[in-house]
Amino acid sequence: MTTAATAPGKAILFGEHAVVYGHPAIAVPLPGVAARAEVSTLTPCEDSRIVAQDLGRVYAGQGGAPDDEGRFLQAALAIVLREQGLAEQDVALAISVRSDIPIARGLGSGAAVAAALMRAVSTHLGSPVSEERLSTLVFQTEQLLHGRPSGIDNTTVVLGRPVWFVPGTAPEPLAVGCPLSLIVGDTGVPSRTRDSVSSVRRRLEADPQDTAGILSAIGAIAAGARQALAAGRLDKVGQLMDDNHDHLKRLGVSSPELDRLVCAARGAGALGAKLSGGGMGGCMIALTRAHATAQVAQVAQALVKAGAAGVYLASVGEKGTG
Ligand code: PMV
Repeated sequence: MTTAATAPGKAILFGEHAVVYGHPAIAVPLPGVAARAEVSTLTPCEDSRIVAQDLGRVYAGQGGAPDDEGRFLQAALAIVLREQGLAEQDVALAISVRSDIPIARGLGSGAAVAAALMRAVSTHLGSPVSEERLSTLVFQTEQLLHGRPSGIDNTTVVLGRPVWFVPGTAPEPLAVGCPLSLIVGDTGVPSRTRDSVSSVRRRLEADPQDTAGILSAIGAIAAGARQALAAGRLDKVGQLMDDNHDHLKRLGVSSPELDRLVCAARGAGALGAKLSGGGMGGCMIALTRAHATAQVAQVAQALVKAGAAGVYLASVGEKGTG
C-alpha cells in the first residue's frame, strides 16, 4: 500500500525580512505548484530510503547525507518518526518526493517538501499529525538548515490558505474583500534564504537605526495592506506592494533581475509588483484584479519578455482559494 500527500508552494505578499524581527507579514499558498510525497513499507530486512526524484538522487533514511538536500530530507523523516515515538531503525520505508516548486526561489519549496513527506509518513504509519503540530515539525526541520526562520513558510504551506502572520502568535486567516490575481515571475537565479537573511542582519549591525527604521516601515506596510485587502482596495494594495519593494531595495535584497521583472510587470499594467521571499534572486510577484484575463496575460507576457525563467498564476479570495 502506498500513501501519498501534497503541500503547495507559497508566496509572501508583504513583510519578508521584517517578519524575522517580529513584524507582521502576509503570505498566500500557490496551489499551482506543489510538493508530493509517496510512502510504502519495505520488508523488515531492508533500510529506509528517500528518493528525491527531481534531483535524481537516493538517500539513506538516516546517516549523514552528502548534501544539504539529503540532510534536510533525513531531518524531516527523523523528526516525524520521533513524533510517532519511533527511531529510524524501527521502520523500513520507501519514501519518494518530487516537487514542481522551483528550488531556492523563495516559493517555500523546502517547507512544502518537508510538509508533504511528514504528512505522508505519519498517515502511512496510522497517526496523521494535526495541522498545527505539522507546522511546528516543519519549522523544526527548517531551523536545522536556515538558522532562524520566522515560521511564515511552514505556516502557509501547511495551512494552505492566505495568512496574516505575526511571529509568536497564532496565524490568522486573511480577509480579502475582493478577489485578486497574482502573477509570480521567477528570475531563474537561485538564492538561499539564509544568505539574504544574513545580509540583512549584517546591515542591521552596521547601521542599526536606518535598518530598524526600514524594517518597521515594512511592518507598517503589511498592516496597511491587511486593511486594504479586507476593504477590497486593490489600487491601494498595489501601491503598498511598490512601496514594500522600494524598502526591500534599500535593505539590499533586490537584484537587477528582480528590478527588471518588477519594472516590466508595472509597465504592463500590474497594480503593483515587488520581490517575494528572501530576494537576491528568486521570484517577484505582480498584482491584478481577478478575472482581468487580458491584464494577467499582458503581465505574464511582459515578464517572459523581460527574461523570466518561469511564470506562475495564483488566485486569492476566490471561492476555494482561501
Ligand atoms: O524562504 P523564502 O525565501 O520565501 O524567505 C522567507 C522570508 C524571510 O522573511 C526572508 C525569512 C523568514 O524566515 O521569514
